[in-house]
Amino acid sequence: MVTTVENRLLTDVAPGTAMHRLWKSYWLPCIRTQKLVAGGRPERIRLLGENYVAFRTHDGRIGFFDEQCPHRRASLTLARNEDCALRCIFHGWKFDVSGAVVETPNDRRPGFREQVKLRHFPTREAGGMVWVYLGEGIAPRFPDLVFNTLPDAQVWARAAVVPCNWLQGLEGTLDPAHVAILHQNITRSAQSLATLNLMPEAEPRFETEIRPYGMSVAALRDLAGGERYVRVTEYVAPGISLIPYGADEPQQCIMTIPIDSGHTLQWNVFFHYQRPLTAAEREIMLLGTGPDDDDIYQPSDKPYWGQDREAMADNNFSGLAGVIIEDFVIAESMGVVVDRENEQLCAADLSVVRLRRFLKAGLDSLAAGGQAPGQESDIDFAAIRSTAGVFAAGQDWRGIASAPQATAAE
Ligand code: FES
Ligand SMILES: [Fe+2]
Repeated sequence: MVTTVENRLLTDVAPGTAMHRLWKSYWLPCIRTQKLVAGGRPERIRLLGENYVAFRTHDGRIGFFDEQCPHRRASLTLARNEDCALRCIFHGWKFDVSGAVVETPNDRRPGFREQVKLRHFPTREAGGMVWVYLGEGIAPRFPDLVFNTLPDAQVWARAAVVPCNWLQGLEGTLDPAHVAILHQNITRSAQSLATLNLMPEAEPRFETEIRPYGMSVAALRDLAGGERYVRVTEYVAPGISLIPYGADEPQQCIMTIPIDSGHTLQWNVFFHYQRPLTAAEREIMLLGTGPDDDDIYQPSDKPYWGQDREAMADNNFSGLAGVIIEDFVIAESMGVVVDRENEQLCAADLSVVRLRRFLKAGLDSLAAGGQAPGQESDIDFAAIRSTAGVFAAGQDWRGIASAPQATAAE
């Protein structure tokens, strides 16, 4: 059982909390690359309960600062984007992408502007997203996950804002037991081997393995004829889940990033290891979501999250519009922060329990002066791959999980 105090420790990312500090130890994907237009408007970005501003200069570089101007704290989202710098429209103080204060027109005393401090943060662009490091000191190694290294045409990153705490979204991505139930409309109609056996009747067994980068979560189903259907979700700390598909299929990575304790930025990153995504595949991936890649989830203003009871009477299990929306609605339906003290867990919740334990151990490590989990220098992020396929029953899934190009049987 998770007590109310433990739940707060695990979920609250407000400044000053232990979880805020843990999250600040990582590079975080925060906005689509295309959303920052060269010479265009500065964008507000809220992460871990704090507001920032990001902009792209006319020559394509990115600046990332605290939102409030260091002078008298006007919002820099109102600033002018000029001459490769942001100029606050209140008194005209001007900041370049390096965080240097290059003009203070209302106080031209020699040496004054050099004393002004502006908090600014390093960024990287990869996978169609801008990533930022908000922590102290030197940034950790960038997570060069496989989709961060592929050509643009092979990756499609879409963002959603879900109005609930990040941990219930993340737990959903590491809960393989729900896939064959909640998402059965899609799994029942799936044509591919990787999803074909995901029937509610085929009762899976769950196992987990702690990894240097996070955790592997296996759902194992014994098939007739001495074979085993294996699905392994890979968790990369603190909020990344690689969802299992066959090695030749489009892949999906879900990244769960806290905006604040009651709002979550959830990324759906679709990618293919070998080739560009096709128009037909992109069509399938829309799955009831909105067309705006910067925010694919518009919570329903209808009662009961817009659930369609007529569709349910007509063979639609959930009455919700597709896999992604099903996950968002379920997470949101638990309340802003789920009351974990009143859960009644079962054996199939093994991975959720292990995830909580993993995060708690990460907090303990930081508190003891150690490093956040998943930051060892020898982690080969690009080699972390989810796995879905049929293997010999005697084969240890730990050996096949995360092997580069793990091959599903045809
Ligand atoms: S508040 Fe920004 S320059 Fe004065
Ligand atoms: Fe799901």
